[in-house]
Amino acid sequence: MLENSSVVLKPPLYDTLIDKSESLNFTMCSDLLTGSLLRTLVGTKPGARILELGTGTGLALSWILDGADEESTIVSIDNDSELIKLVRNHFNDESRLELICEDGNDWIKKYKGPSFDIIFADAWPGKFELLDETIDLLSTGGIYVIDDLIVRDTWPDGHFEKVTSLISKLESFKNLNLTKMNWSTGLIVATKLY
Ligand SMILES: C[S@@+](CC[C@H](N)C(=O)[O-])C[C@H]1O[C@@H](n2cnc3c(N)ncnc32)[C@H](O)[C@@H]1O
Repeated sequence: MLENSSVVLKPPLYDTLIDKSESLNFTMCSDLLTGSLLRTLVGTKPGARILELGTGTGLALSWILDGADEESTIVSIDNDSELIKLVRNHFNDESRLELICEDGNDWIKKYKGPSFDIIFADAWPGKFELLDETIDLLSTGGIYVIDDLIVRDTWPDGHFEKVTSLISKLESFKNLNLTKMNWSTGLIVATKLY
């Protein structure tokens, strides 16, 4: 039935990446349900150009790559060279993937290439920072996804206000249709109208 736990077949590298993340004490991996949603969304866009801001240990990337067709390309950015090295090792035969070790804000500011059909903004750049510039990078009909919006005890002082203001700002974009999902860790999925 509709139990969240009976989600789906996981991507091939899923368990390996979970083990690796645990061994590194990396606690910022996306939730299983978010991964499942990303894979489903990616499947709506054959030949997509996909951008992930915040590669982490590559868990969300494993879902994205699992859902993307052979013509799709994925750019994923993290400023932690150790994480990028780890992900590169796990996905070394993946020709669709470009991994970039750089500060996300610097990358967003200087990027002049084609727009993206899906953006998963999973670091401060593209979410709490340079939001307008990131939405500018989205194609018409493109999908913007963010997670971790449901309040948690572990949020530092001031984070609630940051999230509230991010949601208000997203609501103010006339060219975005938003769906707020009180599900998984709390997501917004938005499509760009023009
Ligand atoms: C929430 S984790 C990403 C998790 C990953 N997307 C997943 O779902 O498995 C956020 C990542 O953003 C990276 N990060 C933090 N600040 C950054 C910045 N200014 N530029 C690029 N990456 C950054 C961190 O190193 C961390 O790996």
